[in-house]
Amino acid sequence: MKRLSLSILFLASLVAFAAAQSASDVIAYWTDYNTTDNGWTIPSFCAAVDGDKPLEWRSKYGWTGFCGPNATQGVDSCGKCLNVTNTATGAFETVRIVDTCGAGGLELDLETAFKPIDSDGKGYQDGHLTVDYEFVDCDADDDVPDATNVTAYWTDYNATNNGWVIPPFCAGVDGDKPLEWRSKYGWTGFCGPVGPTGVDACGKCLKITNTETKDEEIVRIVDTCGTGGLELDLETAFKPIDTNGNGIKLGHLTVDYKIVDCEDDAVLVYSQ
Ligand SMILES: *[C@@H]1O[C@H](CO)[C@@H](O)[C@H](O)[C@H]1NC(C)=O
Ligand SMILES: *[C@@H]1O[C@H](CO)[C@@H](O)[C@H](O)[C@H]1NC(C)=O
Ligand SMILES: *[C@@H]1O[C@H](CO)[C@@H](O)[C@H](O)[C@H]1NC(C)=O
Ligand SMILES: *[C@@H]1O[C@H](CO)[C@@H](O)[C@H](O)[C@H]1NC(C)=O
Ligand SMILES: *[C@@H]1O[C@H](CO)[C@@H](O)[C@H](O)[C@H]1NC(C)=O
Repeated sequence: MKRLSLSILFLASLVAFAAAQSASDVIAYWTDYNTTDNGWTIPSFCAAVDGDKPLEWRSKYGWTGFCGPNATQGVDSCGKCLNVTNTATGAFETVRIVDTCGAGGLELDLETAFKPIDSDGKGYQDGHLTVDYEFVDCDADDDVPDATNVTAYWTDYNATNNGWVIPPFCAGVDGDKPLEWRSKYGWTGFCGPVGPTGVDACGKCLKITNTETKDEEIVRIVDTCGTGGLELDLETAFKPIDTNGNGIKLGHLTVDYKIVDCEDDAVLVYSQ
């Protein structure tokens, strides 16, 4: 019961957090990331988080440095998107946070973000725009994988016969979760080139695509691995997407993956 009320508090704070993710009349300076000439190389501040993302992802939206009010600062905001509106003209666009800044607002990349909404040219004359912004989920329907052509071996967690007992590496994080949570998705060990590392990866979900057959599935990270890729549980994760049997023959699959929300029931997760 105690944990249940904690979970409600937790949900309430999430809702409050979501509602506060906007601000108005914020100064937006311009800066020149010279994105195209530099091959859209993510600036050093966000490089550890997003430097490995594919070009398609990095160049999908204009760029901004972010240190605005009403939001998480620092590297936690890397990769997130803002809908930015020029208050003078109403012109708006979606931009991606790729850097911090020192000015207390936004620093829009000149070519990819500042000019596109500086529709009357006055911002450039004044040296800044005044904007409203709100955080938007720009990657929700986007199928660009976080990593491509990753080797996925199989391993046998024997999940069903073992009562879906979380392996030792992730047991401290997820060992207490209810069976319904533990068995909701197939399992994988994770040590992929892009994404969270170590126990921070435990419990997270990946959408995996077999590059050969295009079969897709969502799997849960329950372990680390030593192979620099994935280790899919044979019965619950490897076989379901090895529909032509080539994976088992070769000993591995080649997959693309994307880190996705697991769609866990928050009350179920936190009430146990
Ligand atoms: C921050 O959010 C609150 C609540 O939505 C709002 O009242 C306030 O004006 C925002 N701050 C700025 C600078 O827009
Ligand atoms: C942009 O990059 C190109 C190629 O690296 C360079 O020649 C040019 O001077 C850069 N421009 C700015 C404004 O940094
Ligand atoms: C961005 O904000 C404008 C209003 O300034 C709104 O019309 C538009 O629908 C918003 N776009 C998104 C993707 O939220
Ligand atoms: C992945 O492998 C396929 C087939 O070998 C190749 O055509 C494709 O370019 C590779 N993709 C990347 C991003 O390396
Ligand atoms: C799976 O677990 C069952 C019951 O604990 C055991 O009999 C079986 O040998 C195990 N299989 C593998 C491959 O570990």
